[in-house]
Amino acid sequence: MPTPLGEFDLHAFEVGPDNVHLALVVGEVAGARSVLTRVHSECLTGDVLGSLRCDCGVQLRTAMRSVAAEGRGIVVYSLGHEGRGIGLLNKLRAYVLQDEGADTYEANVMMNLPAEARRFDDAAAVIRALEVRSIRLLSNNPAKRDGLRAAGLDVEEMVPVPTAAHVRNIGYLRTKRARMGHHLPSGEELDGHPSHVHDVMDLLGDVRPRDDRPFVVVKLAQTLDGRLATVTGDSRWISGEEERRVSHGLRAASDAVMVGIGTILADDPRLTVRMVPGACPMRVVLDTRLRIPTEARVLDDAAPSLVYTTSRAPAERRFALSSLGVAVRTVPTSREGLSLEAVLADLRRSGLRLVLVEGGSRLATSLFASGLVDRAIVAVAPIIVGSGKEAVGDLGIVRIADAVRIAEPAVHLAGHDVIVAGDVVTSRPAAAGPHRRSIA
Ligand SMILES: NC(=O)c1ccc[n+]([C@@H]2O[C@H](COP(=O)([O-])OP(=O)(O)OC[C@H]3O[C@@H](n4cnc5c(N)ncnc54)[C@H](OP(=O)(O)O)[C@@H]3O)[C@@H](O)[C@H]2O)c1
Repeated sequence: MPTPLGEFDLHAFEVGPDNVHLALVVGEVAGARSVLTRVHSECLTGDVLGSLRCDCGVQLRTAMRSVAAEGRGIVVYSLGHEGRGIGLLNKLRAYVLQDEGADTYEANVMMNLPAEARRFDDAAAVIRALEVRSIRLLSNNPAKRDGLRAAGLDVEEMVPVPTAAHVRNIGYLRTKRARMGHHLPSGEELDGHPSHVHDVMDLLGDVRPRDDRPFVVVKLAQTLDGRLATVTGDSRWISGEEERRVSHGLRAASDAVMVGIGTILADDPRLTVRMVPGACPMRVVLDTRLRIPTEARVLDDAAPSLVYTTSRAPAERRFALSSLGVAVRTVPTSREGLSLEAVLADLRRSGLRLVLVEGGSRLATSLFASGLVDRAIVAVAPIIVGSGKEAVGDLGIVRIADAVRIAEPAVHLAGHDVIVAGDVVTSRPAAAGPHRRSIA
């Protein structure tokens, strides 16, 4: 079976009525020891439909990729394991209970169903039928290792499957750790080993979308002297690799990442998740005149792209973007450009809860000036460039007492960079225009 992640020999095993286990095999495994193996429980919503309520889809693709990269290994795909064995319909019923406040464990108990109804004997039999002598198990779940061992399989060790948490599934991942002994796939500490995925949830804090807009997080990487770029607009790379990995973790946790057209024209970023295993968020660009080039990397097909513009934007540009599959939406203008309230309200209506704004300077400035930033995450790199693009422009603040304040900032290290994160305290938005007096 050819896949974008590699070519697999596909074996199907019938285990009992209506139940099939698939084995996706790479390389010669018969008679082999230490075979990298994943036993993956079917999850239609996560694996096929890309649901972000769980991390199943990301785990499946990461496992297939690891096995393909190793050149030898097995992914056993166990049908009949939906919802840890309670079935698809009951899993969806449990989702309803979870939306009312129960965690993934309690929801099953409330329905008089076991929190864990899977058995791993069949998966062990499949692995034995492939004549594998011992495996290294790709899993964060010690119970799965124990189940396979109890079924007589030689499991040498567990190899973690790292996934970058999403703000929508972090509660589920934490429950799996607290209630079921899973290892947290995102690692424990921000300044851990660089090869680990960082847990960015501390940086995001308590994400509380409002009815009229998503929770807005502004994330910037600046020099010690407060610049986002040099005088020529160069910003690659201000922060180090570890900090950039954190940024990718933040993207993976978010529903959308948003930038102004200035950033697209200066940097041509892709705004995808590449440095951690996670889902790519929607990419949103604010572009009054549709200056965005059709070959801009942010428009590639790695994730959906959405460009906000005005009714005055040239129709042929709008058509060129639409024919690339890019969504183009029209909003009213304000003094700074597009009406940020209108953009955010539209994103909220589309179901988005968390928007990560990655710059640039003008967009960050108008968001702060409008009192629309809920949380700031600023990485400070130990470099000085002198003149350049200021991180945040004029907010009309003349007294320190009126400064935008970050409540109870958390401070982390990522390599040589310092990351400061906290909720923004604004009691009322500033008056529009360059001569605002105060935004406190
Ligand atoms: N270090 C970092 O973290 C980081 C991150 C991002 C960017 N950067 C750097 O920042 C620079 C780009 O920043 P920038 O300030 O020039 O551009 P920007 O903030 O990315 O984009 C600003 C443009 O967005 C459009 N826009 C539409 N509605 C807006 C609104 N309500 N408020 C503000 N802008 C709106 C405007 O262009 P139209 O009028 O044409 O619509 C405006 O000129 C580059 O040098 C880049 O390298 C650094």
